[in-house]
Amino acid sequence: MKDEQVTGVSALQLPPASAPTRIVAPIANAIDDPSVLMEVRSLKKYFPIKEGFVKKVVGYVRAVDDVSFFIREGETLGLVGESGCGKTTTARCILRAHNPTSGKILFRTKAGEVVDVAQFSDGEMRPLRAEMQMVFQDPYASLNPRMTLLDLVGEPLLVVGGMKNHQERQARVAELLQLVGLRQEYMQRYPHAFSGGQRQRIVIARALALNPRFIVADEPVSALDVSVQAQVLNLLLKLQNELNLTYLFVAHDLSVVKHICDRVVVMYVGKIVETAPTHNLFFTPKHPYTAALMSAVPVANPRIRARMTPLEGDVPSPANPPSGCYFHPRCPYAVDKCSTDLPLLEELEPGHFVACHRASELQLVGIGDAKTIEIPGLEVDR
Ligand SMILES: Nc1ncnc2c1ncn2[C@@H]1O[C@H](COP(=O)(O)OP(=O)(O)OP(=O)(O)O)[C@@H](O)[C@H]1O
Ligand code: SF4
Ligand SMILES: [Mg+2]
Repeated sequence: MKDEQVTGVSALQLPPASAPTRIVAPIANAIDDPSVLMEVRSLKKYFPIKEGFVKKVVGYVRAVDDVSFFIREGETLGLVGESGCGKTTTARCILRAHNPTSGKILFRTKAGEVVDVAQFSDGEMRPLRAEMQMVFQDPYASLNPRMTLLDLVGEPLLVVGGMKNHQERQARVAELLQLVGLRQEYMQRYPHAFSGGQRQRIVIARALALNPRFIVADEPVSALDVSVQAQVLNLLLKLQNELNLTYLFVAHDLSVVKHICDRVVVMYVGKIVETAPTHNLFFTPKHPYTAALMSAVPVANPRIRARMTPLEGDVPSPANPPSGCYFHPRCPYAVDKCSTDLPLLEELEPGHFVACHRASELQLVGIGDAKTIEIPGLEVDR
């Protein structure tokens, strides 16, 4: 389909001459910096809405609508937003589980070559599958109950890695189980014998089998009991340090992100509304949506809690988003312009981008480094 159907303004448009201090999305061409592993440029994924006997296309769900960001090698980038904001669709496009409608996904391969994954065929993607892996939200659904741990973790070694020798595979599986904190004696057992936290360790071992460099973790602890969430997060961070992994960490709230991400991208109805280094985002949020998401973070200090503005109303449908700023029907700071003009993503401070007409005048409350109470046992903090 044609991109002209997008109602939004391209995030890569050049800055207007009248506003030289406000640069529009200078994250473009980030991949030119050799420390950048991936640059997603103007990514769009529209799902057609079909109706009737002949399945006529009557509209599109703009699940991801002109999204641009980059990830440096070895960092953890958080991708945050309420349910339905397009996080998983973005992640699935990056790993080519979805074909993007348009845009570029520029990836620096192990060999140092920059490739546009968005354009790749299945055959071209195959060698890259080893470098890019995904850890899903639900470890119960993502493991075949009829396969033993040996087969589950060994499958990518055999199918993608071509490791046909059984003993060699067994040795590598044993190594991987040890890496994720599982005993190699478990190798012949089936997933039902394990708890949720242990299953997520199996999923992680499987994702690590081919020595990936980049891992998309889509809400990897949301389905787990709170008591084991920290263990899995601690494991992910230990593995990152040991194996120099780069993470895109998807979450629907900011609690976990605050502790483990270097930078954060906030999405709302298929678009990026704010992106900043984690510290800046939590001390000085600039978008009312980000500030509202922060109100859901369980902060121990009641004085800080009292200053937060809770998020009200529901996320609009990406098939029929509101006019102007998509957040205007829920925004306590909306003015007339907000219902007619879509704000551009602009850089207010180095590395801090915001799409809000009032970003530079609003004094929004963040939670800073206030102690949160939701993930007992988390060892690492950024
Ligand atoms: N295959 C599909 N066909 C049509 N619409 C889809 C499809 N997959 C996702 N969508 C729609 O795209 C939008 C974004 O969905 P997505 O799963 O990416 O959101 P999300 O941010 O990951 O939400 P959650 O937090 O619930 O996982 C939603 O409106 C969803 O209904
Ligand atoms: S542009 Fe207007 S409606 Fe949108 S977040 Fe900013 S103040 Fe609120
Ligand atoms: Mg999702």
